[in-house]
Amino acid sequence: MPRVLITGASRGLGLEHARQYLAKGWKVTATARRPESSPGLAELAANDEGLLRLLPMDVTDHARVEAVAEELRGESLDVVLNNAGSYGPKSAFQGMHYQSLESMDYDLWREMMEINLIGAFKVAVCFKPHLEAAVNPLLVNMSSDLGSIGDNSIGQAYSYRSSKAALNMLTKGMSIEWKEITVIAMAPGWCRTDLGGPEAPVDPVESVRMQQALFERLESSRSGEFIDRFGESVNW
Ligand SMILES: NC(=O)c1ccc[n+]([C@@H]2O[C@H](COP(=O)([O-])OP(=O)(O)OC[C@H]3O[C@@H](n4cnc5c(N)ncnc54)[C@H](OP(=O)(O)O)[C@@H]3O)[C@@H](O)[C@H]2O)c1
Repeated sequence: MPRVLITGASRGLGLEHARQYLAKGWKVTATARRPESSPGLAELAANDEGLLRLLPMDVTDHARVEAVAEELRGESLDVVLNNAGSYGPKSAFQGMHYQSLESMDYDLWREMMEINLIGAFKVAVCFKPHLEAAVNPLLVNMSSDLGSIGDNSIGQAYSYRSSKAALNMLTKGMSIEWKEITVIAMAPGWCRTDLGGPEAPVDPVESVRMQQALFERLESSRSGEFIDRFGESVNW
């Protein structure tokens, strides 16, 4: 039975990944800052047939990340979804002003870096042994088209963009140093979640379906790539 660990599983894409992996019979470790206050996770737990484990884990709390890794010591993980992420308190369109050249919120920028970049690094390092214990392991760093330097044609969203561009750099580096693990940066598309907002064109259920299908067919030779849900390479 394959096993996956997901960060930021309380809602949005993380919750949907948990739902779809459970439906396929995977053993799912769904981590979230406050799993007990997520209606989506409560629903999954209510229908669980022994496949779901819920664990509190804020990715910026490094001691807690280490404690969860220790709790899972000896278990293999086929997939780690470094999914927890923040665009600040507002969604894509509404959250532009606090990360603009004219009115940057520096505290929010630091917070985004802690979650999107440094937290993702900490999770990757702490769960590397669990990945290495699997046969064909995959580490997914949830990036964004907004992290592409090459495709940036409008500027804006400096905090979020810089956190995801830097996450892409981590992805490349890890893929070079960790030969036994396939490491990718994923661009899920602009999805209708709290982060994406209601204007987003992509159904999160469909994005996750496509992402998981991609993960299943992904060749290890693609380690170190920045990939969209169709399996196409995205410009760094
Ligand atoms: N939606 C899009 O259009 C889109 C596009 C490109 C990339 N992405 C990326 O996809 C990932 C998921 O985004 P989403 O759209 O599902 O966003 P979302 O609906 O806003 O969900 C974000 C998730 O991250 C969690 N989170 C935030 N800070 C955390 C922390 N410190 N520790 C642990 N969990 C934390 C949230 O938990 P709480 O409930 O506790 O706040 C929530 O579960 C993110 O990395 C995002 O950058 C999304």
